[in-house]
Amino acid sequence: MQISEFIKSLEDSFAVDANSIHEIIADFHCDMERGLAGVESSLKMLPAYVDRASGKERGRYIALDLGGTNFRVLQVELAGGSKPQIIKSEKFVIPKAVMHGTGVQLFNFIAQSIKKFMLDYKVDIMKKRGLGFTFSFPIKQTDIASGILINWTKGFSATGVMGKNIVKLLENSLKRYDLGNIKVSALANDTVGTLAAKSYEDRECDVGVIFGTGTNACYVENVGRVKKMGKLKYKSDYMIINTEWGNFNKVPTTDYDMKLDKVSNNTGKQRMEKMISGMYVGEIARLIFSDMITKKLIFSKAKMKFAKGNFLTRHMSLIESDNTTRLTKINGYLEGMGVIASSIAERRAMKDVCRIVSGRAARISAAGISSILTWMDPELNYKHTIAIDGTMYEKYPGFRRNIISALREIHSRSSKNIKLTRAKDGSGIGVAVVAAVAAS
Ligand code: GLC
Repeated sequence: MQISEFIKSLEDSFAVDANSIHEIIADFHCDMERGLAGVESSLKMLPAYVDRASGKERGRYIALDLGGTNFRVLQVELAGGSKPQIIKSEKFVIPKAVMHGTGVQLFNFIAQSIKKFMLDYKVDIMKKRGLGFTFSFPIKQTDIASGILINWTKGFSATGVMGKNIVKLLENSLKRYDLGNIKVSALANDTVGTLAAKSYEDRECDVGVIFGTGTNACYVENVGRVKKMGKLKYKSDYMIINTEWGNFNKVPTTDYDMKLDKVSNNTGKQRMEKMISGMYVGEIARLIFSDMITKKLIFSKAKMKFAKGNFLTRHMSLIESDNTTRLTKINGYLEGMGVIASSIAERRAMKDVCRIVSGRAARISAAGISSILTWMDPELNYKHTIAIDGTMYEKYPGFRRNIISALREIHSRSSKNIKLTRAKDGSGIGVAVVAAVAAS
């Protein structure tokens, strides 16, 4: 087999054509309906117990943002009518041992980080105050200020947290570090924060999406359609629903996807996330390169091996951004990996692989966005702003463009009613907005 044949067949197996997109949308709607009714579904459809912002909320809030390898503490100001502003912010890297240790260690680490932030910025630790907590994992809520972790995603595995109320765990740790005056007043997923943050300045915003380490989306739902909710104390007719679309499982898969899933620590789960998000797409490309090496299609002379963990999404991004005629950036990367004499054909093949993997990610993402939009508004008669945050969206070359072109393909003229907009820091800022909406 030649490289070109391999690439051609790869292209075919990763293609998500118009028919597949329409199938995905139909299956997605089916799982949304089931999730909202509380029956078994790959979409959890979790009520967030908060509505969009009115833009009039005011106040200064401390917010926590936990969801990837970094943990952030922020102070956010809502002045009403303008963009929420970050006044202070500090990032803490979560040590691997803490991510995979015990829940008590994880929440103690968070409490210590909050204390450091408050002392560094001279924020009074004795004052009674509410805190907004962005916790970017699936949580089952029955009100805005508590939530039970359903399962970990994105490689987290701290013990003793699943099935527990996250807010209790955090408040216990806060007490341990003399921060007992701080109470969590709002708990929200990062998608919910992102939607809330953008809706503060744009009333047409009704969908929030994250394309980062993981991927997920939420949207504004009519409470009457949330069949599983029953009668609970909630004051508005609309509520944000966190779909947890990363776990959607009716997606066309390849052998590489099966391989990746099999060795992951959550086999069978987060199937859509494993095709789209930053934590996984680099690994899919690496599996393809390894296959090409085994088939002696590339680097047969260099005896190059791509070990797990050696090739990440940021490398993929670098490869796809190489627009030089001789693909010198890719050459530089390969030289760093010990491949001294790669051919242009090999380098081009690497770029093709990355384009194919990221192109599929964008088309599946567009299918997800389109599913949510047509669930809310089947003919797309109204304008919708989609607030998006996350490094994949912000940094991956062509990812945004590919999503937009797929949406145009799916919706032709009505796609003019869809506006994709970046909600920078939405997941951090947003929970302050959520806290303010909950308090209003
Ligand atoms: C994972 C989490 C989800 C989160 C997403 C983006 O899919 O399960 O809750 O929103 O990552 O961070």
